[in-house]
Formats: sequence, structure tokens, C-alpha cells
Amino acid sequence: MTTPRKLFIKTYGCQMNVYDSERMAEALGAAGYVVTDTAETADMILLNTCHIREKAAEKVYSELGRLKGLKAANPDLKIGVAGCVAQAEGEEILRRQPLVDLVVGPQSYHRLPELEARARAGGRALDTDFPEEDKFDRLGGRPKAQRGPTAFLTVQEGCDKFCAFCVVPYTRGAEVSRPAARVLDEARDLVARGVREITLLGQNVNAYHGEGQDGAWGLARLIRELARIEGLDRIRYTTSHPNDMEDDLIAAHGDCRELMPYLHLPVQSGSDRILKAMNRKHSAEQYLALIARIRAARPDILISGDFIVGFPGETEADFEATMALVRAVGYGQCYSFKYSPRPGTPAAEREGQVPEDVKSDRLARLQALLDAQQQAAQQAMVGRVVGVLFEKPGRMQGQVVGKSDHLQAVHVEAGEDWLGRIAPVEILAAAPNSLAGRLAAG
Ligand code: SAH
Ligand code: SF4
Ligand code: F3S
Repeated sequence: MTTPRKLFIKTYGCQMNVYDSERMAEALGAAGYVVTDTAETADMILLNTCHIREKAAEKVYSELGRLKGLKAANPDLKIGVAGCVAQAEGEEILRRQPLVDLVVGPQSYHRLPELEARARAGGRALDTDFPEEDKFDRLGGRPKAQRGPTAFLTVQEGCDKFCAFCVVPYTRGAEVSRPAARVLDEARDLVARGVREITLLGQNVNAYHGEGQDGAWGLARLIRELARIEGLDRIRYTTSHPNDMEDDLIAAHGDCRELMPYLHLPVQSGSDRILKAMNRKHSAEQYLALIARIRAARPDILISGDFIVGFPGETEADFEATMALVRAVGYGQCYSFKYSPRPGTPAAEREGQVPEDVKSDRLARLQALLDAQQQAAQQAMVGRVVGVLFEKPGRMQGQVVGKSDHLQAVHVEAGEDWLGRIAPVEILAAAPNSLAGRLAAG
């Protein structure tokens, strides 16, 4: 038997890339590769890239520069670029970086085995098609290996919303939902391999409208059916758009026990003028009303979000409106970014680009407020008993760590036999990014 070739994948960007990296490993597994976690010993290195902000895209070229030495030491090493930079820049990557052997966009990675064969034969392969066929279910049988207790599962991909700042509709294409039966099959397979918590993924996951046996299913119906799978104890979903929070999805937060009390619902700005310029198609007030309805269904839900400061035309008053919205919501956790003009998106060409120092100042003020809210949300857990799914050994000996129902990191003193189990934990103390607790009776 020949020794299998080794594959090293480095993943940037969102959870969908994490999911895709697993699928790429499976696709190349069928071509005789096994995954390694050291680039130095790999026969193939794949960078699964992100194009969302300029900094993210630049990382690819600096990483490729660093790989030069490895390629010099091992001329048989093949280097591939996948993901959203591959989609957006395609041939430009081959031109700029002679050491790249293959470029594959996020829609065509099921073709990796043939692209790899072309690269092995000495060619340079490029595939940034949006193929007709469904990439998700073309990868053949999965290896039935055991895996950790949590998993991602992409149910929807692409975006039709065209926010004025965002590259995703261009890199991932139009919205596509996977048929419900395939999602359920994949979920059952994951559960059979040891998974107890699944996070459903999509760029606009709540726009899900997959074909079910009795017509199109929305995300709420999909979640309710998934919840019936024996052994699947926790369900989450991300990322959702405020305009797709349908009534039955809000209701599911109140009555579906498996649906965890955490929701990432980005709003980007609190200024109606800026929301309009961003093409978000809702007002700040509508967003606040929506949050109120979700909280009425599930009072202890932890809300998270994304914000962009310094969008073209943003004034101090617009920024203050964002601060006011944040104060009104009270977030548990958030991501916030300086606006980054992206080639090909409408906002990149607009007048009124905000100077870098103003963006930095606003980001610092926003982050100070968001940090304070996160601290308050962490502190509010002290004394409560929450469910925790233990995922791995802690940094200290004799500790295990996991995530609470509200997706906060929790560590307790307990043996490794607790890994993969869900238990009630009494929270004793809060730190900025983690909670300390002890196993509670019951
Ligand atoms: N589909 C998700 C978000 C995808 S991108 C949604 O609609 O909410 C993740 C986050 O990156 C966005 O929510 C936004 O806050 C940020 N982002 C996207 N494009 C950006 C840009 N050009 N500059 C700065 N931040 C950006
Ligand atoms: Fe980008 Fe807007 Fe689509 Fe989210 S909804 S992926 S921010 S275009
Ligand atoms: Fe980045 Fe593409 Fe995800 S641009 S955020 S990897 S969809």
C-alpha cells in the first residue's frame, strides 16, 4: 500500500469556511489524502480564504509569501487557494503568485480531486464556476469516524440582499437552500458519530426555504424536524438577517427546547439614514421592535450582533444613533468593524468616505460600550444554573470546558469522562471571556 499524501488546510473567515474546509478534506480524502496539522510535512497546502475586509484578503498573499521556503524544500508540494479570495480574484492569484498550483472557488470544491490531478500532472488549475450541480451532496460516502460533540452544518448558501458594503453576494452567489431531507440525513449522520449540538449555517440562514416532502420548508420547520432526532440535544443557527425573522422562527425560540437561547442578529448601524444607504431595508425602530418580540418569546435569550463604523457618509450624529441603539438592546456579545471599501461593491465608489482616524475613534468608543455590555452579561450569569456541553479539557489540569446554553465558555473542575456530556452547572464567577462554575446536582 502506498502511504497516503498529507493535506494541510488553513481556514480564514466565517464558520461556513470551517464547514467547507471539512468538506474539502473529505473530497481530497477520496483522492488519497489524510489531514495533517503541520504545514511542514504536507504534500498539499490549501488556504481557505476570506474576502470580507481588505485585511482579510491581504493575509492570503502574505501567507503565500511565507510558504515559499516550504515549496523550495519540497518541489512536489502543491499549493492551492480556495474560498472567497479565490472566487473574487481568480486568475489574478495565479498571476501574482507563481507558486500557486490551483485556485478553487467556494462553489466548486467538489471538483478538487480532478483539479488536484491536473496540478499533480504539472498544470495550474483554476475553477471559479458557479456550477449547476449541488456541491454539498457530491462528495460520496463519509467516513464514519467519531468526532467531537459539536458540528457545523451548512443549510443555505449565498445571498440576494446586496448590502452596499458586502462582497458575499459576489463571492458566494445567489441564495440556495439545500433540500430538507439531505440536511436531516447529514444531521443523523453527525449524531451517529457523536455530535450532540449542531449549528446550522448560511450567509442568510433564516432565508432558508429548502424543499421538504410537503413543499418548501422555512428554517423554523427545519429546526423542529431536526429537534426530533434522538441524541441531537442542541441546535443553533447563524447568521440571520432581521428581515427574515419570521413569526414561526420567533415562536420556535419560545417553544423548541433544543433551540438554544442565543441569537446573532446583525444590524450594522443604528442610523436610519445609514441603514438606507447600506440597503439594509429596515429601520432602527423596526429592529428594536423585533428584538422585543424575540425577547417576549424567550426572555433570557442572549443577543449578539455585528456593527460597521465609518460607512461612507456616516456623521457623528449617525454614529451616536448606533451608540443609542446598542444601549437600547443590551448585547451579550458583538463583532464590530471599521468600514473597508471592497472592490466591486457600490459603497466603495461613494463620496463621503470617512477618514481612518475618525473610523478608529468611533470603533474604540463603540467597542468600549460593547465590552461593558459583554461584562454585564457575563456577570449576570453568576449564581445561575445553566446547561453546559463539555467539549475539551481545560487549560488547568482537572478542568473541562464547554459552552453554556447561551454560548458562553464555561470551565468546571471535573474529569475527562465529562467530555461530550451535558450537565447543569452553577456559575460561580465571571471573567471577560469565560465563566467558572461547578457541577450542580440534577
Ligand atoms: N450575512 C451576514 C454577515 C456576513 S459578513 C449578515 O448579513 O449579517 C460578517 C460581517 O462583516 C457583517 O455583518 C458586517 O458587519 C461585516 N462586514 C461585511 N462587509 C464589510 C466591509 N466591507 N467592511 C467592514 N465590515 C464588513
Ligand atoms: Fe452581506 Fe448583507 Fe448578504 Fe449579509 S445580508 S451576506 S451583509 S450582503
Ligand atoms: Fe469571508 Fe467569504 Fe465567509 S468573504 S466571511 S469567507 S462568506
